[in-house]
Amino acid sequence: MADGLEGVVATSTRLSEVDGDGGRLTLAGYAVEDLAPNAAFEEVAYLFLHGRLPAPEEHARFARDLGRRRTLTPAVTLVLQEAAAAQTPPMDALRMAAPLLSLGREEQPLEDAMNAIAAFPTIVGSYRRLRNGEAPVPARADLTHAAHYLHQLFGSEPSAERARALETYLNTVCDHGLNASTFTARVIVSTRSDLISAITGAVGALKGPLHGGAPGPALDMVFEIGTPERAEAVIRARLDRGERLMGFGHRVYRVRDPRADVLAKAAEQFYARAGDRRLYDLARRVEATALRLLRERKPDRRLDTNVEFYTALLLHGLDLPPAFFTPTFAVGRVVGWSAHCLEQLRDGRLIRPQSTYIGPSGLHYEREAATTLRVET
Ligand code: ACO
Repeated sequence: MADGLEGVVATSTRLSEVDGDGGRLTLAGYAVEDLAPNAAFEEVAYLFLHGRLPAPEEHARFARDLGRRRTLTPAVTLVLQEAAAAQTPPMDALRMAAPLLSLGREEQPLEDAMNAIAAFPTIVGSYRRLRNGEAPVPARADLTHAAHYLHQLFGSEPSAERARALETYLNTVCDHGLNASTFTARVIVSTRSDLISAITGAVGALKGPLHGGAPGPALDMVFEIGTPERAEAVIRARLDRGERLMGFGHRVYRVRDPRADVLAKAAEQFYARAGDRRLYDLARRVEATALRLLRERKPDRRLDTNVEFYTALLLHGLDLPPAFFTPTFAVGRVVGWSAHCLEQLRDGRLIRPQSTYIGPSGLHYEREAATTLRVET
């Protein structure tokens, strides 16, 4: 049995290629190192939805189109208010709000994709403010996607530097082969269900700590370590307790996750000018110690840094609270989910694998032996 479907090729895609042995990620034909730090998020979203980069006037039109779709309906705002009152974790609030994007709208895959991509930053940004006891700020159509998300979160226009750091992050995580949440989305639309249902399911899959939920705990470990001299003792103790180190290891990469390099570079540039440089240096030291100890403990399994470690550092530098790291991942990944759904609807068949039955057989149901259910009145 292929446990966890490791190594199984389940579909073909034109969207991204993950080369686990070479440590390379290609996004719709472009190396992640080339595309993510240089392109606008809107260009990347267009590339994924339409299969090529936009011409300048197409880029401007696409950005305006996204800008017009940012305002939330009252139903979404109400759910977010209720969720905040109930202290709901942000990923759950996003999962509750996402299906309402189809309220009052006819199913139309590309329209649904545009609405979800445009609305996710408003949902997550508004929710952060509501959780903080602040009123959401009105959506602005005149800001870029990344700047708009920061505006929704913090209520003020970000510097170009902050917007660029976030844009690099969103581009870096926009798609990544057939990861668990993308597979979930493809399975859902493969039944000819709608794109908003698929995106809602994908949010649920992303939440788990073995997928998108790792960056908060990765940062917790860096804070727990506190000073470089403590790195070895704290990490050894965690491994002795049989814990996994969050931000390390990957199902496909057997070398360093190339996204970690892109984000490490973005974090270094950002922290050199705007953030706490000491924290950046501490994180580098923690990473080096973790890698050495993982090699010592698991010499047969190559465990390297994954995208989540530097996600944590970069998003912390942008003042995002850890509970909002995974929802921010979703703000980027909703592009990939949408594009995969469109591809699946266009080219795919119903995804319906089989299972090997390993339960008992030949049992006989005997009425006398069965327990009779008594209903007391
Ligand atoms: N720390 C310590 N040990 C680890 C780690 C880790 N981060 N990752 C794997 N191992 C160990 C496992 O305990 C296992 O050891 P064993 O054979 O003695 O039982 C061995 O390495 C193989 O682990 P698997 O679970 O088979 O590897 P898998 O491919 O299923 O796991 C995963 C990949 C889930 C990412 C894993 O490396 C992990 O749990 N990492 C920590 C969580 C994390 O960073 N998640 C984010 C992933 S990136 C993303 O999805 C966006």
